[in-house]
Amino acid sequence: MVREIVNIQIGQAGNQIGETFWKTILREHGMDDSGKFIGTDPLQQAQAGVYFTEVSSGHTPKYVPRSTQIDLEGGVCNRLRSGALGHLFRPDTFIHGESGAGNNWAKGHYTEGAELVDQILDVLRQQVEGCDSFQGFQIIHSLGGGTGSGLGTLLAGKLREEVPDAMIATFSVLPSPKMSDTVVEPYNSLLSIHQLTENSDLTICIDNDALYEMSGRLGYKTPEFENLNQVIATVMAGVSTSLRFPGQLNGDLRKLAMNLVPFPRLHFLAPSYAPIVAPGSRAFQSQSIPELTQSMFDRKNLLVALNPQHGRYLTAATIYRGKVSSREVESAIHDLKIKNSNYFVEYIPDNISITLCSVPPAGQRQAATCLGNTTAISEVIERTQVQFAAMYKRRAFMYWFTQEGMDDMEFTEAESNVLDLMAEYQQYQDAGVDEDDEGTEGYAGQDGSVKYEESIPPSEY
Ligand code: GTP
Ligand code: MG
Repeated sequence: MVREIVNIQIGQAGNQIGETFWKTILREHGMDDSGKFIGTDPLQQAQAGVYFTEVSSGHTPKYVPRSTQIDLEGGVCNRLRSGALGHLFRPDTFIHGESGAGNNWAKGHYTEGAELVDQILDVLRQQVEGCDSFQGFQIIHSLGGGTGSGLGTLLAGKLREEVPDAMIATFSVLPSPKMSDTVVEPYNSLLSIHQLTENSDLTICIDNDALYEMSGRLGYKTPEFENLNQVIATVMAGVSTSLRFPGQLNGDLRKLAMNLVPFPRLHFLAPSYAPIVAPGSRAFQSQSIPELTQSMFDRKNLLVALNPQHGRYLTAATIYRGKVSSREVESAIHDLKIKNSNYFVEYIPDNISITLCSVPPAGQRQAATCLGNTTAISEVIERTQVQFAAMYKRRAFMYWFTQEGMDDMEFTEAESNVLDLMAEYQQYQDAGVDEDDEGTEGYAGQDGSVKYEESIPPSEY
């Protein structure tokens, strides 16, 4: 039996990335733009039910995304409706307001967003009720604007309350001044990170800064969102491979979280992909398994602007696609860990999980995706916090938010929670390195000192 996921794409970034994601996985599952199955490989269909609801239309099955498309303004949803995938989604799963949140988190989270939230929850409830074995939600949104960030995190909180057993995974886009010039993005992002710390189980960080650089290397002089979104969708397809194809390790969101998240708050993950190639290009197609493995841990292939060598990996989940031998993969991972042992915490042995899927991504013969839980993610969080603090110190643009009913207290609380989060990353990074560290067993102590339990494979947490 498949375990269903409900996708929620919200705001401009959420819907634009969502559209590209659906286009990508339609191809992988052998479906045309209307969701009709035209594939030949039964593997493509076997677990299509995770993301799609099957409806029969004559002899050929047709698939409809289990998805809700939300925005506080009409434009993006209307473009999606009139685009190539216009007939793919259920018409009653588009929900939008008229005015937008104008890059204001408070409007998304409290005023404008709160007016729409019940209507959204009704649609989501229906989608969950239509599932046989619902596993959780996937939210695609940006953190820098008002809707995806404010309303997106409001929804995450409501869903956590209403469906406490459900997993919540988010694909969250961090802003870059290279791709937008809205001054309050650090406010919106930090308020969102604060919420996601509590109300998400897995947050896959997508950083427009890293993507901008990456697109430059792919030959785009002034990268557009479309170029960025293509890379993001490819990586999202990679990340979700183990969920969408049968018989895989990390086969559902809960198992993925069990293997990746040893400490619940530290669930901000850095995705990477190899080989990253420009559409239509065939360069680097014949990378060897050790090369592919090495590339996944190379900062150039990360979708977040961080240096993994500034932190340590708590865990990592790797997914190899195409014709690859498990022996070769295991030995490549083994070698990588030996050569880079400083960059993996030693108190979680076997902390790299390996998944193999014989179905390659569309247009590539083989590829590998990694979700890394590295303490270096703190660099990205710090970038946001430093920009936030510089403005907040002067209470710059605060009236935007107080006008919508927010107060200083919420800003202060959010900042202090995010500072705590950064400190926790630091603690787990340092744990086990310090010679004077007495503890070798047990979890983080009440006094904040970090100790650890020996020899628990991540899968048994
Ligand atoms: P409001 O428009 O303020 O109501 O909220 P929204 O959720 O629609 O905002 P949006 O998603 O446009 O958020 C702005 C942030 O997202 C900025 O950091 C943009 O650079 C980024 N962004 C917007 N669209 C895209 C996109 O298609 N792809 C990527 N990667 N980033 C995007
Ligand atoms: Mg918008």
